[in-house]
Amino acid sequence: MNMMAHPIHVRSHLDFHLDDVPRYWFGGNVYATRFMDSICMLFPVGERSFISSIRPYRDQITDPKLAEAVADFCLQEGQHGIQHSLYNDILIKQGTPAQDIIKDFSVWLEHRQINQKQDIRLAITAALEHMTALMAEALFRSPETMASAHPNMRALLAWHAIEEMEHRAVAFDVLTKVVKISYRKRILAMSIIFPQFWRNALVHTDKMLAGDGFNRLQRLNMARKTLPLFFGRHGIMTRVLPEFRQYFRPDFHPNDIPMLKQYPRWLEVYETTGSPLKAAEMMYED
Ligand SMILES: [Fe+2]
Ligand SMILES: [Fe+2]
Repeated sequence: MNMMAHPIHVRSHLDFHLDDVPRYWFGGNVYATRFMDSICMLFPVGERSFISSIRPYRDQITDPKLAEAVADFCLQEGQHGIQHSLYNDILIKQGTPAQDIIKDFSVWLEHRQINQKQDIRLAITAALEHMTALMAEALFRSPETMASAHPNMRALLAWHAIEEMEHRAVAFDVLTKVVKISYRKRILAMSIIFPQFWRNALVHTDKMLAGDGFNRLQRLNMARKTLPLFFGRHGIMTRVLPEFRQYFRPDFHPNDIPMLKQYPRWLEVYETTGSPLKAAEMMYED
C-alpha cells in the first residue's frame, strides 16, 4: 500500500521565539530535555550532510517531479538547519558543551565521509530520513507525549516533524529509482547508522548533563529513571518500532506509512494564520 505523497511546502522566515524557551523545556525533566537537545543539536550538521549527499545525483534525475522534490528537500533541510542553529546558540549561551560536541561530531563526520562511497552516503541519508520521519510520528502521534513541553520548542519540533513527513520519500526515491541501490546496501546503511545515532544521543546527553554540573551518580540515576520514557515497553520511541521494521521489507516505500494524523490540521492553521506557533497549538485541541 503506497499512500499518496503530500506536496512539499518550503516555509521560511519563521520565528519560534526560542529565547523564551526555559533551560529544561521538556516538562522540567532534565534528562529528557538534554536527550532531545542532544538529538536536535546535530540537525544542522546532519542536514547539511543530507543535502550534500543528494546533490551529486541532481543531474541524473529525469523525472521533473522528483527533481523538484529534491530541490524542495534541500530548501526544507536548509531551513531546519537555520532554526536549530538558533537553538544551538542558546544552548551555547547556557554554558553547555554543545559547541564542542557539534565540532567533534563535524570532524568525525567529515573524516568518515572521505572514504565513503557516494551511494552509501545517500543510503545513510535515506535511513536517517526514515528515522526522523518516525521520530516525528513518535513525538506527535499522541498529544500527551509533548503536552508538558514548552509551547515554543514544541512548535519548532512540530514544524520540523510536518516537513520531515512531507519530504520523507525524497532521498529514498533518488536512492531506489536513480541510484538503483541494492537491497543489501540499503539495509547495510541502516544497520550502520541506527546504533551510531542512538549511541551518539546517549553519549552527548551525558556530556550535556556533566556540563550542567551533575555528577556521574546523578547522571546515572537520571538515565535510569528517564530512559524507559523513551525506550521502555510503551516508550516514545519504542511505539514506532513496527513502522521502523518496515524499512527491512524489500518492497518498502516511505509513503506506505500513514501520514501524521494532525498534518491536515497543522497545515490549515498555518496556511490561514502564517503562524507555526498557532498551528502547533491546534494539534492539541480536539
Ligand atoms: Fe530536517
Ligand atoms: Fe529530512
